[in-house]
Amino acid sequence: MERRYEDALDLAARKLQRAIPLAAREPAIPYGSEGARFTPPPYDGNSWWTAGFWPALMWQMYALRGDNAFLQEARRAQALLGEQLRRFTLLHHDVGFMYLLSDGADFKLTGDETARVDTLHAATLLMGRFNPAGFVRAWNGADQAGVAIIDCMMNIPLLFWATRQTGDPRFARAACIHADTALREFIRPDGSACHIVELDPNTGARVREPGGQGYGPGSSWSRGQAWALYGFTLAAINAGSDAYREAAGRIARYFIQNIRPDGLTDCDFRQPPTPERIDNIAGAVAACGLIELARLTGEDDYAAAACRLLDGLIAHCCDPDPDHPGLLTRCTASYHDDRAGVHTNILYGDYFFVEALCKLKGTDPMLWT
Ligand code: GLY
Repeated sequence: MERRYEDALDLAARKLQRAIPLAAREPAIPYGSEGARFTPPPYDGNSWWTAGFWPALMWQMYALRGDNAFLQEARRAQALLGEQLRRFTLLHHDVGFMYLLSDGADFKLTGDETARVDTLHAATLLMGRFNPAGFVRAWNGADQAGVAIIDCMMNIPLLFWATRQTGDPRFARAACIHADTALREFIRPDGSACHIVELDPNTGARVREPGGQGYGPGSSWSRGQAWALYGFTLAAINAGSDAYREAAGRIARYFIQNIRPDGLTDCDFRQPPTPERIDNIAGAVAACGLIELARLTGEDDYAAAACRLLDGLIAHCCDPDPDHPGLLTRCTASYHDDRAGVHTNILYGDYFFVEALCKLKGTDPMLWT
């Protein structure tokens, strides 16, 4: 691995090790950071969809360094996530993000049986959200029965995992049915993706495409493009599907055309020129997807684009202060929702940045497959 990536990963490891006691003092699993302190989830406490990324960072560090302090901190956070499994009411399709990267990681790296059972529990919840009209329901609430979102391409790896664990093909079948719907309803001919599609919950017919976390209806929220890129790449790996691999290639080419000259990523590829809105999480997620797509297809252009993204992050947006637990600056949760964070550190950005660096280093345990 080249020196600048090695240095960035060393910086991450040093910060995360120092941050463990700080995180343990927080009432909630950390969401982001401001200077030397962690910030809590903006909504729903430890049921917020991001709660698995802190333990996921710990597991990436454990795989890299083998230090038990990371394992213990991951398990401390997982105990809090276990409480949310039992509470149940605030959970939705993002149990994939939450539990595959925490308990699923634990089981993958240590073989822990409690972690395996909690991951299966989460997979069963996700399966319970599958609508036979052809999609996994995203959110809760009486008016949300037909809502699906592109982010779910990153949740369905939990269903593929459950089929591998149990031998029951229903989980993977549901995942493929959802991916087929996403390919048909979300991915536009130019390779861009819409964020939200409302489907008729009885027939699966398309009802409308409301605006989501990007600039507006018909726009191109960059993190949604990144979820689509990495999600279809993972579906191609998990299902061995040429159609998903080709879709991932189309989405990747569109994403690559929209990388800024400085290597950073606008929050929406169709946002107005001002105000400047950058979302470095999108770039970090896309880098992970591009590295895996390069491995899957043997096409070096994807790997080169991943390095452009990582180089932009390292050159312009990596906080070097060892007293600051956060790594990536200028992360934006949502174009129109300032409460969840605008141009600040958000830890799931750090997670994907670290995952990408660990892929280059060769230590990524590939928690999604
Ligand atoms: N819902 C996932 C995200 O904000 O990207």
